[in-house]
Amino acid sequence: MSESNTEAAGTILLIGASRGLGYAMAAELLRRGWKVIGTVRGPQRTLLHELADGYPDRVEIEQLDVTEPDQIAALRSRLAGRSFEILFVNAGTANTDQDETIAETSTEDFVRVMVTNALSPMRVIEALQDLVSPTGMIGVMSSGQGSIANNTRGGHEVYRGSKAALNQYMRCYAARQGGQARALLLLAPGWIRTELGGPNAPVALEDAVPKVVDVLLAQQGQPGLRYVDREGRTVPW
Ligand SMILES: NC(=O)c1ccc[n+]([C@@H]2O[C@H](COP(=O)([O-])OP(=O)(O)OC[C@H]3O[C@@H](n4cnc5c(N)ncnc54)[C@H](OP(=O)(O)O)[C@@H]3O)[C@@H](O)[C@H]2O)c1
Repeated sequence: MSESNTEAAGTILLIGASRGLGYAMAAELLRRGWKVIGTVRGPQRTLLHELADGYPDRVEIEQLDVTEPDQIAALRSRLAGRSFEILFVNAGTANTDQDETIAETSTEDFVRVMVTNALSPMRVIEALQDLVSPTGMIGVMSSGQGSIANNTRGGHEVYRGSKAALNQYMRCYAARQGGQARALLLLAPGWIRTELGGPNAPVALEDAVPKVVDVLLAQQGQPGLRYVDREGRTVPW
């Protein structure tokens, strides 16, 4: 499909758009007339590059490994002078053996998951926040597993802890923003069939992502922090 550039509905800077939910969100936002600046981790061609071929005027691809502070600073420099309605950090990971308990997890895996899922999104947000319009939105992909209140069954312990930490850091960030007009969002998409979600996840990407994007766009213009699922329901902390 080829698409000529008319006036875009808005511009989103989408961090982690090479595959999975991030890629599918990019595709859905393009269908809805948005302009997407999407990041991929490495130099190799990804699904986002395939997508960009169909929307040459509305997709830009940048490179970023969110765990590399120098790369975050370099991206900030490259994007100087730009303005986005939405900054959304989707990039995330899980530990190799999701069944292991927290004490069984290797220090290396613990650090990798926590740095990727909790520390790095906050570094990205702090570094790029001033590129977001004053009434725009800053969002990040959390998970229902980040809810402490809903954790009655345990499991996926390292991953849960990383998303709970992410939620806490977004609350810290929100508390520091005072009365700013920006919307802040922690999105829990549900269990979706992706590489991370695995083949047993009950919901396909194509069924989940239109709702995920509906919920994302519905938060625009609503100042303050929300933690919501893909139906727009508040998730208890
Ligand atoms: N699928 C689910 O059921 C589910 C449920 C709740 C929340 N989530 C969250 O949704 C987000 C996307 O997950 P997914 O299911 O789409 O997983 P996925 O298919 O494994 O995709 C993960 C994405 O994150 C990127 N990424 C990972 N580490 C990165 C890094 N250090 N720097 C930059 N990008 C990095 C990957 O890039 P590469 O291609 O370079 O690896 C890829 O684009 C994650 O935050 C995840 O925790 C997923």
